[in-house]
Amino acid sequence: MNYNMKKVYKAHILFTKEVSRFEVLENGYLAVGPDGRVVGVSSDLASLDSGDAEVVDFGDCLLIPAMNDLHVHAPQYRNQGIAMDLELLPWLRNYTFPEEMKYADRAYAERMYRRFVRDLWRFGTMRACVFATIHTESTRLLMNLFLEAGMGAFVGKVAMNRHCPKELSESLDEMTKGYEELVAEFNEPEALVRPIITPRFIPSCSPNMLRSCGELAAKYQLPVQSHLSENKSEIALVQSLEPESSCYGDAYDQYGLFGQTPTVMAHCVWTDGEELELMKRRGVMVAHCPTSNFNLASGMAPIRKFLNEGLHVGLGSDISGGHDLSIFRTMVYAIQVSKILHQQNNERAFLSLSEAFWMATKSAGSFFGRVGSFEPGYEFDALVIDDRDLNHDNYSPLERLERFIYLGDDRQIAHRFCRGKIITEPK
Ligand code: GUN
Ligand code: FE
Repeated sequence: MNYNMKKVYKAHILFTKEVSRFEVLENGYLAVGPDGRVVGVSSDLASLDSGDAEVVDFGDCLLIPAMNDLHVHAPQYRNQGIAMDLELLPWLRNYTFPEEMKYADRAYAERMYRRFVRDLWRFGTMRACVFATIHTESTRLLMNLFLEAGMGAFVGKVAMNRHCPKELSESLDEMTKGYEELVAEFNEPEALVRPIITPRFIPSCSPNMLRSCGELAAKYQLPVQSHLSENKSEIALVQSLEPESSCYGDAYDQYGLFGQTPTVMAHCVWTDGEELELMKRRGVMVAHCPTSNFNLASGMAPIRKFLNEGLHVGLGSDISGGHDLSIFRTMVYAIQVSKILHQQNNERAFLSLSEAFWMATKSAGSFFGRVGSFEPGYEFDALVIDDRDLNHDNYSPLERLERFIYLGDDRQIAHRFCRGKIITEPK
């Protein structure tokens, strides 16, 4: 395809400009400029094309924004779908740390990371916030694999120096040097693949390491990702390690890791009161990971309440605490969790399909820039869904999207776009 020229795509177009409802253009048109950004959508071709565009007809397919995964661990890929018999802290010790140690070996990392990037692609996830490991070389490799693929990612070299095996512990100097190398190499502010400051969580980092992480984020204006209030034993451990802090979130805040630069915190299952207020004040995003919260028996995050309070929430697969890389399936789990909470706690309502879709697209996408919607100026990250095998009874475009979210998989994803370009299967 010639990307120097304007493109107009024809299909049934669906997206969530607002959280509460879908925009649906049956047999609509979407124009993309040579800069890879959406020019506009319309039911009328003439309003988008004055003869200067290449028109591509996707026929009866659906055209939707691509998925964003706000929290996923690339080096836990081998453990996907196993080791579900323990809660968080013993799970980390027994299964997760031993696997992450293997990423000191570049060849092992390459084999696994290639599969990981290919499978993100397969499920239509074009942007992700990714934890790597402490190993700078393997982290660089993962970043280059995303670049090769043409997919967007914030990739975090993981900072750790306590409560972990010595093989996963780095000195402050090594940690800082590793980050500075990656920052120097991946330093374009508009680049698709960028570093993100990633203290694993408070128990894994000494106060000095947390302080250095906050300083690196401020110095290089880098975003931050970590875990927050996932599990009750974890929260008690944080309270004992940081007795001066008023809540878990406040412990991050003391070190400049809570919204001083764009920040996303995974889980927030037990976030309430002061922590919730602090997140709102600081614009800290929540990465809701329902499959992980089920598998590790962590609890159920009150996402309905978070949305009502105005928190920004996206969805994460959290492989391998979570077992399912599909963000479509994660939407279904998020809705189901909200329905259990609705019954248990008399929460006012459960999540609607548009709310789940909005969390996965426009809300999560906001962490990466203007991503996740088809409004003018948004980067064209999109999926073409060919659901012929599911659409056997004249469903409406919105019913077809719902069926695809609940019943579909990678087989119905006909094309994937990131930043305006078709993304083919990574090697
Ligand atoms: N908290 C600290 N590390 C991890 C991890 O790898 N997975 C999850 N789910 N929680 C964590
Ligand atoms: Fe995680």
